[in-house]
Amino acid sequence: MAAAAAPLELDDIQGLVARGYSALKSACFLLLTVEDPTAARPALGRLALLATNGSAESPESALNLAFTSGGLRRLGLDTGELDGFSKEFASGMADPHRSRLLGDVGENAPSRWRWGGPDCPPADVLVLLYARDDGLLGRLEAHVRQDALGDGLTEAARLGTSSLTDREPFGFRDGISQPLVEGLSKVAVGDDAVKAGEFVLGYTNEYGLLTDRPLLPAWYDATGLLPRAPDGGGAADFGRNGSYLVFRQLRQDVAGFHRYLEEVTRRPDGAADPEAREVLAARMVGRWPSGAPLVHAPLRDDPSLGSDNDFGYFATDPHGLSCPLGAHIRRANPRDSLDPQPGSAQSVAIGRRHRILRRGRAYGDDSGDTGLHFLCLGANISRQFEFIQHTWLNNAHFNGLYDGPDPVVASCQNHDATFTVQARPVRTRYRDLPQFVSVRGGAYFFLPGLQALRYLCEGERAGGHR
Ligand code: HEM
Repeated sequence: MAAAAAPLELDDIQGLVARGYSALKSACFLLLTVEDPTAARPALGRLALLATNGSAESPESALNLAFTSGGLRRLGLDTGELDGFSKEFASGMADPHRSRLLGDVGENAPSRWRWGGPDCPPADVLVLLYARDDGLLGRLEAHVRQDALGDGLTEAARLGTSSLTDREPFGFRDGISQPLVEGLSKVAVGDDAVKAGEFVLGYTNEYGLLTDRPLLPAWYDATGLLPRAPDGGGAADFGRNGSYLVFRQLRQDVAGFHRYLEEVTRRPDGAADPEAREVLAARMVGRWPSGAPLVHAPLRDDPSLGSDNDFGYFATDPHGLSCPLGAHIRRANPRDSLDPQPGSAQSVAIGRRHRILRRGRAYGDDSGDTGLHFLCLGANISRQFEFIQHTWLNNAHFNGLYDGPDPVVASCQNHDATFTVQARPVRTRYRDLPQFVSVRGGAYFFLPGLQALRYLCEGERAGGHR
């Protein structure tokens, strides 16, 4: 029998899990290297006191903290403490096996990354800063620098963001479709809510099980900073209320995207065809620039449908005649079209095991280095982010296609990528698609619950239990 759903402990869950801070338009991310754990831990402990939790109502600013597995090790955690984390988190995003899986090869290879790669200073700690405006963000950042940097921590990189709007750099409305999460979202009867354990460690997931997570023998936590695990015979629940955070800096070739669209949609006389350009771009994404989904607005943009997220594909558009089978949103969340029985409740249930909470922010300006700081949360990196990236976005055989990875974001287009627009009587095929998105950095982080954060910063280390 499925375990009963426990209420989410929002006071102990970091705010980024509960919300995307959409009212906090300014943000920046600091990546720090742990140089000296003895000095770094109290400095991080001071920052931890500022960490925003999931029940804070409309804060003016927010701070959240996350750690790579290398960071946890450098802060002094031992093998026993690290063992319970997932394999993919432990190996890290830049591990060669993961690079092959994610398509991070060639131009996208970690050796060429700005941060997070093998030749970069370790990105051990991620400090996520958000504020209502740039002035407030500047003050928050100055405070963080004063409190933490220098004390055993150095700056590996600072990643700025553009002021938050509802558009990503290619010009499409973003942030429309997010999973409804039990206990987090306002869920109505009949809504297709996803179990909290898909996003927060220590809760019931879509398999009816409490998530896998690091549990420690109680003696690790002699002072009782951690909650005790309901399923772990009195073990200290280091993972509870935490989540995994996937961070990828994705550079978008905005000029190249528009140039490509313009070239392949020219009229026979060579003149540009802005309307055809917009149609093709919308077909690649699966939504129009306003956000209107092609399944409901197949022919032209309809801004009144800009927030429409109430659709499936099987009943209305099984053959991709409205929204191409290979469009970005159709493959990132196939909704009701998954095998073995498309259109069934089972198909939707399978889809619920591959959802992510997207928390990205755009960055850059007209100078060329523009893109998305893609951030997403999930309780299982391999089954959620990596599966979407590998099996759906980068997979040329997705949905019965045979040479079509994601036309917008696939990062493995060093082979003959084609985008097919299904139509009757004849489909159109766009061959040799260039790569519009490239990876500039990335890492897998653990975003601990607040009690676990205290344990990390204040728990007895060397000379204590080790
Ligand atoms: C620079 C790269 C990317 C761009 C420009 C981009 C753009 C978009 C846009 C415009 C939407 C539709 C708006 C919405 O539903 O919120 C969307 C949806 C989505 N994207 Fe991306 N995306 C990018 C990368 C990724 C990556 C790397 C993943 C996952 C590995 C991803 C997963 C999703 C998901 C799950 C949805 C929602 C689909 C749905 O539920 O209908 N995206 N993206």
